[in-house]
Amino acid sequence: MRLLFIGPPGAGKGTQAERICRRYEIVHISTGDMFREAIAAGTPLGREADEYIRRGDLVPDDVVTGMVMQRLAQDDCAAGWLLDGYPRTPAQAASLDRALADSGQTIDKVLLLEVPDEVLVERITGRRVDPATGQVYHVKHRPPPPDVAGRVVQRADDTEATFRARLKKYRAETESVLPFYESRGLLSRIDGNAAPKQVAAAIFEALG
Ligand code: AP5
Ligand code: MG
Repeated sequence: MRLLFIGPPGAGKGTQAERICRRYEIVHISTGDMFREAIAAGTPLGREADEYIRRGDLVPDDVVTGMVMQRLAQDDCAAGWLLDGYPRTPAQAASLDRALADSGQTIDKVLLLEVPDEVLVERITGRRVDPATGQVYHVKHRPPPPDVAGRVVQRADDTEATFRARLKKYRAETESVLPFYESRGLLSRIDGNAAPKQVAAAIFEALG
């Protein structure tokens, strides 16, 4: 199975991707996670991406697409994958389309996770990450266990101001890729404003 996961910042893509990939035994490819790993490792890719991410901007198309294509060429992707956070611009959608056509692959479904803005800001500012495991928590909705609570951190781009910049980019750039998939009958809109379990149930129903 090959899936795309689209949604505004804080919609719950990472949270749901974990469940989907476990159930269908496919690889979770999050471009945001890949950049954060590169930043932590201090690689040239990480240094380039860092400045864009900190100000809530998009990393340039050629940089992201190069990284994704390399990842999709790896052996573990043969069993299927879920792309979380890619494509985010019409140019990225076109690049992905060309690459899949060249390799004779198709996308099975594009999941769009919809959540109202006021809920998104609360999810983003309350998010905490365990730097030791990468596990994602929320101060209210998914508090970290006591032995982890002392070491959780906030993402550098999880301030309210940077969230607003990210949301603006999402509306201006990412939403314009939706008609491309909707016209092919691939798009499923999922209500992400519910408990994680309910959201997962809606996703599994959409995936059949
Ligand atoms: P990325 O890391 O992809 O960030 P994003 O798209 O803004 O999405 P998030 O990861 O913030 O949110 P999420 O939907 O995964 O939510 P989560 O499940 O964590 O990208 C970061 C940056 O990298 C971009 O801004 C850009 O600069 C760059 N980048 C990445 N891809 C790029 C591309 N293709 N092109 C160019 N640049 C790119 O949940 C959020 C919180 O809510 C958590 O605390 C969670 O516990 C909680 N939560 C989740 N679900 C629920 C629920 N149902 N109820 C209550 N709480 C919930
Ligand atoms: Mg995420």
